[in-house]
Amino acid sequence: MKQRLLFLGPPGAGKGTQAQLLAAERQLLHLSTGDLLRGEVAAGTELGQEAEAVMARGELVSDALVLAIVRSRLEQQAAGGGGGWLLDGFPRNVTQADALRELLEQLGQPIDLVVLMELTDAVLIQRLLSRGRADDNEAVIRHRLEVYREQTAPLIAYYREAGLLQAVEADGTVEQIAERITGLLP
Ligand code: AP5
Repeated sequence: MKQRLLFLGPPGAGKGTQAQLLAAERQLLHLSTGDLLRGEVAAGTELGQEAEAVMARGELVSDALVLAIVRSRLEQQAAGGGGGWLLDGFPRNVTQADALRELLEQLGQPIDLVVLMELTDAVLIQRLLSRGRADDNEAVIRHRLEVYREQTAPLIAYYREAGLLQAVEADGTVEQIAERITGLLP
């Protein structure tokens, strides 16, 4: 069974929504770097203070910081028996993807599948504006999209070339999209 998964896609594609459902259904560790960083901001930690302004601008937090968070969670999971996991919002650029590949080699836990969630800008902007998170105003959303295209979208070719990528149409109801994703996971 595929149990080491990565969700890739633009802001607002529904990665978090679908990741939460699938992780609960299959008892996977759901690791969202965005949620973890927002947790640090809310707790007022040093790390959170460093990340807050960067996130508010819609830019990427430093690779070193994010990698340290992911490394410790995946090492913990491996030490605790090595259950499955679902990475949501990580990696966000080629540096992070290379570091993840190295870490997973060390842990002996290769990625089983990368799910690319595809959606038009018009729909995702509408979704994010109606959510209204701190970084969900139109100017910042447009900047997050630019950052996605420049830094994250190259990972589509990266994982396609590795033979790991499958794309799903991310328009429709939450249930319809969940069905498309589970269709990729025998
Ligand atoms: P992050 O939290 O990862 O945000 P994001 O990628 O911009 O993604 P979103 O959470 O906006 O969208 P999503 O695809 O998860 O969709 P969701 O399910 O929430 O990152 C935030 C910031 O943290 C970054 O800008 C960066 O600064 C920093 N960061 C995070 N990871 C980092 C990393 N690895 N490296 C460096 N920096 C990092 O859905 C969106 C909305 O749509 C919700 O309201 C939802 O209810 C709704 N919705 C979902 N599905 C549907 C549907 N089918 N129909 C209608 N509405 C729907």
